[in-house]
Amino acid sequence: MPSQEPVVVIRDLSKHYGEFIALDRLTLTLERGNILGFIGPNGAGKTTTIRILVGLSRPTSGSATIAGADCVRDLHKVRRLVGYMPDKFGSYDNMRVREYLDFFGAAFGIRRRERQKRIAQVLDLTNATWMQDRFVESLSHGMQQRIGLARTLLHNPEVLILDEPANGLDPEARIEMREILLRLASEGRTLIVTSHILPELSRICNLVAIVAGGKLRAMGTLAEVTRELSQKQTIEIQFLNASRLEAASQRVQQILGQETELTISAAESIVRCRTSAGEEKLSGLLRTLITEGFEISQFREVAGDLEEAFISAAREADAERAAASGRSASAPVSSKGVAAEVTV
Ligand SMILES: Nc1ncnc2c1ncn2[C@@H]1O[C@H](COP(=O)(O)OP(=O)(O)OP(=O)(O)O)[C@@H](O)[C@H]1O
Ligand SMILES: [Mg+2]
Repeated sequence: MPSQEPVVVIRDLSKHYGEFIALDRLTLTLERGNILGFIGPNGAGKTTTIRILVGLSRPTSGSATIAGADCVRDLHKVRRLVGYMPDKFGSYDNMRVREYLDFFGAAFGIRRRERQKRIAQVLDLTNATWMQDRFVESLSHGMQQRIGLARTLLHNPEVLILDEPANGLDPEARIEMREILLRLASEGRTLIVTSHILPELSRICNLVAIVAGGKLRAMGTLAEVTRELSQKQTIEIQFLNASRLEAASQRVQQILGQETELTISAAESIVRCRTSAGEEKLSGLLRTLITEGFEISQFREVAGDLEEAFISAAREADAERAAASGRSASAPVSSKGVAAEVTV
């Protein structure tokens, strides 16, 4: 498969549990080497999507492929290509970290000698070598997360799918997890990461997909997603020096109008504008400021607030749900709707 082909292709993917639609015709593609933040409110359909991608759940309709391998038909290939870290850690009594990794390495069919090498490598990658003789059960949650990640790396997968890897980690452990994930991406792997810790996520992801109510609400760079879901964008105008900052900000306010919120940072010589002004108006603003002799060093859009975009997607889903329940009074999940799932 040529490397410019998207590595993950999801088309019209739906998952129904009885009457309840957990996933509604989700379509997205992901090119190699990206880190995608897959976010959305509780019950949005993130884990449902992920479980289909790794072959633990079958879609009701639609398709998903990873590096050309179909997530239903070519499960063997998919499992080789993907490292999956679930949101819940299993329980492994009386197993030391090294034995635990050896067990999973063997399950992946990695030969003994190669296995020893891989175990040493993944322990090193996750800064967990010092834990190798500890019992898994005796490790703290954060340490177990690292071992969980080490396990997903054993067969050297090119795609990593991590469901809430930073969940329950203290700030220091989160920074460490972030560094590990960035290191893995820099090796050319593709990562899909879910998290509710949005500021954290926005620091590692170059792409974001927001799902709510089983539907994809937006996908793109952080700036694109926040622009699409928020009514306003943030523009930063940096001046060569702060001497005419006050005059400049008055001019900006006049041109962009009262609905634009301005904040001035004298220390950085920056005027920040939260505005719904279109491209033409912004280009006119830049022209005017330059013509009037303001010395501008930077004029750029900055990524908006992911939290705001998240809330707006959640509200959209809530409004749809309210409208739908007005049309039909069906309960979301009946006991009949709870489907048995494949487990490994
Ligand atoms: N086996 C199942 N049977 C019935 N409904 C299910 C099943 N699994 C998931 N659901 C429902 O599908 C919806 C999506 O769940 P999912 O676990 O994908 O959400 P999520 O986005 O991962 O949420 P969270 O942020 O809480 O992890 C939820 O309403 C959930 O109750
Ligand atoms: Mg989930």
